[in-house]
Amino acid sequence: MIEKINKLKVERNAVILAHNYQPPEIQTIADFTGDSLALSVRASKTDADIIVFCGVLFMAETAAVLSPKKTVLLPDKNAGCQMADMITAEQLRKLKNEKPDALVVTYVNSSAEVKAESDYCCTSANAVEIVRSLPEDKKIIFVPDQHLGRFASEQTQRHLILWPGYCASHIVITDDDIKNAKKKYPNAVVMAHPECSEPVKELSDEVLSTSQMLRFSKDSPAKEFVVATEVGMIHPLSVQRPDAVFIPASEKAVCSNMKKITLEKLLFSLQDLQYRIEIPQDIAAKAQKALDRMVEVLPSK
Ligand code: 13P
Ligand code: SF4
Repeated sequence: MIEKINKLKVERNAVILAHNYQPPEIQTIADFTGDSLALSVRASKTDADIIVFCGVLFMAETAAVLSPKKTVLLPDKNAGCQMADMITAEQLRKLKNEKPDALVVTYVNSSAEVKAESDYCCTSANAVEIVRSLPEDKKIIFVPDQHLGRFASEQTQRHLILWPGYCASHIVITDDDIKNAKKKYPNAVVMAHPECSEPVKELSDEVLSTSQMLRFSKDSPAKEFVVATEVGMIHPLSVQRPDAVFIPASEKAVCSNMKKITLEKLLFSLQDLQYRIEIPQDIAAKAQKALDRMVEVLPSK
């Protein structure tokens, strides 16, 4: 299957992008792995004709918006994101009508329609910088993740109008999980994703996006890390630092949507060019403005 995928990839001039939470075999076969921000940037710069996005729908939609002339494929059409589904464009329009002077910052974990209603996009890697860059006299609506929003609000000391969205795979990690892990591994550094609950982040040493976790642990002298995010993250961390131990804060932190992508579906995707992600032009043009502000103003770091 791996041979077939690699052969077809060359024949079709395709590039395979995979998120850090993807199953290990998918990360291994991918041309590029990364967090939402790194993959967005990569998608906007590739010369390939086809982008096969091994991740969830909002990520493939983002690639399609940033690369309108390319064919973007998602190997499983049902790989959605529960958080992205927690706000619709209609709901955001209503909120904007209630707060007509506010700027809208939208987490990239959202539909293209919601992005199209937004002034700025952000990812977990740059939400703080995006909020900080906005004029002080402006009110800011932040959707859909309340936990990332609260983190950005705390870091910038800016009041944000939050939407009550959340990621079930992250809020399942409890403060007790962190306390227990710290007792068991007193020398470990605790890294938490900003989508975690506030008590979990407070007990953690570092709050980082998935690629930031990779960069941080690469240069750290520590040999043990407790990882408060989706369990798939243990794979790239362990590959990069085979001398260190990475302990999931909770085995329950599993994103079932991320696990829907398999080698077989990836092969079918390349064979049959499925499932094509196509965004209506008017929506894509508006969403692109919000994404461009993010990608161009604050490149990946
Ligand atoms: P990152 O951008 O940090 O990879 O996070 C994406 C995501 O969906 C987290 O749940
Ligand atoms: Fe969405 Fe959560 Fe899965 Fe990330 S981990 S894709 S936020 S459901």
